[in-house]
Amino acid sequence: MLAEKVISEMMADLIDLPKDKVRALFSFGGTASNMYAMKLAINNAVPNAGKIGAPSNLHVMITANAHFSHKTVGDWLGIGIDRLVQIKADEESRSIIEDAEIKTRSIIEKGGVIAGFQINGGPFYDFAIDDIGAFIDLRDRLIKEYNLSFSPHIHVDSVIGWIWLVFNGYDFELNPLKIPAEILPIIKEQFKRKYQVRKADSWGVDFHKGLGGCPTPCGLFVSNNSNDLLLLSKKERGIDTHHLGNDWSLEDPSDITLETSRSAGKALSAVGSLLVMGKNGFRRLLANQIFCTKVFRDLISEGDYFLVGNPHALGFNTMVLLSPGNKRINWKEFLSSVSGDDKLLDHLNEEVKSFYEFCLKSNSGDISRLGCSFSKGFYKTKSGKAVSALKYCLVSPHANSEHVKNEVDKLKSQLISFRTLKNK
Ligand SMILES: Cc1ncc(COP(=O)(O)O)c(C=O)c1O
Repeated sequence: MLAEKVISEMMADLIDLPKDKVRALFSFGGTASNMYAMKLAINNAVPNAGKIGAPSNLHVMITANAHFSHKTVGDWLGIGIDRLVQIKADEESRSIIEDAEIKTRSIIEKGGVIAGFQINGGPFYDFAIDDIGAFIDLRDRLIKEYNLSFSPHIHVDSVIGWIWLVFNGYDFELNPLKIPAEILPIIKEQFKRKYQVRKADSWGVDFHKGLGGCPTPCGLFVSNNSNDLLLLSKKERGIDTHHLGNDWSLEDPSDITLETSRSAGKALSAVGSLLVMGKNGFRRLLANQIFCTKVFRDLISEGDYFLVGNPHALGFNTMVLLSPGNKRINWKEFLSSVSGDDKLLDHLNEEVKSFYEFCLKSNSGDISRLGCSFSKGFYKTKSGKAVSALKYCLVSPHANSEHVKNEVDKLKSQLISFRTLKNK
């Protein structure tokens, strides 16, 4: 519990909120953080929901490009995924505020309840961070105009994207860590978007993902208003936890946690990771991954065989696609060449999948497994067709330009071998 408190204070420090306002709880990962947020949203909107269940007019707004776990928790909490309303996303995968406004107004005007919003704080594949401030404004306008009796909960799913917060307090002008100038604006922009999480009600952090350096699972649910957590109190809704020693415990978080028993391992491993790395350690690590990602994307885009499917993404993953006809094209040109040509897209999807499997299965002689995984549908075209790609995510602290160059050479040479063998 002490480690958990220390980490709560560190989280408060990352977003410049008073230490006693922020309270973080370790749980079983990103899914758990989303679950805490949705449960808080329900209990806040409908105070007796813990006794009588969530009413059938209750809705939670989620985003088109959200991780699937938001739907999982909507299902497990008994709201049902049909009452999770998806906000459309723009080309960068950021949620469109106007769409959120139209949908929320329509639900409220029909007598529905918007319990909360679960928005993006930098998920795969685009690491898109929503305009958190705009969602807060929308929420506040809805409260005022419809005279709502409660404030819909705003949660930011930042389980991967939290890492940008380590740049809080960094002097981007002086740049003491000598971060390469070409990536400094990328980091600065993503940090600026992320820092808005201080205005949200809650957010998630996974130290087991991306660059956090802890064993799975090591997830943290962070509440920016520690008093909100009392909405989860078992006591308050008549659950008698007499099996526990709460009468003599000085502090009993099990009154507000989902789990009765929680491992101390998560908090200890996170304290270890944060103290060993320090802000500057994480800054260096993140800057290196962004730098290598830039080198990787540039090299991919310079060749004729592949293209980058998420050139706008400010994070450290890259989606790699096969260029149709080995012609150097960019992502926009790719989309226009497959639009209306389902056969071409099916062929490219099939080929990139076969190529990935060929490298994975051969794994001998000149052919070896690629340093990526595969995604069958990281993007949906306007007509709703999935686009497949190789999914590269640079998380090793040892990554450098040479490794990246070797991987790009390997991609090219193995693609040539794959096609030669296929055509025999
Ligand atoms: C953005 C996001 N949210 C939630 C989750 C679920 O996290 P977990 O697997 O730790 O439950 C993931 C998993 O990758 C994720 O990327």
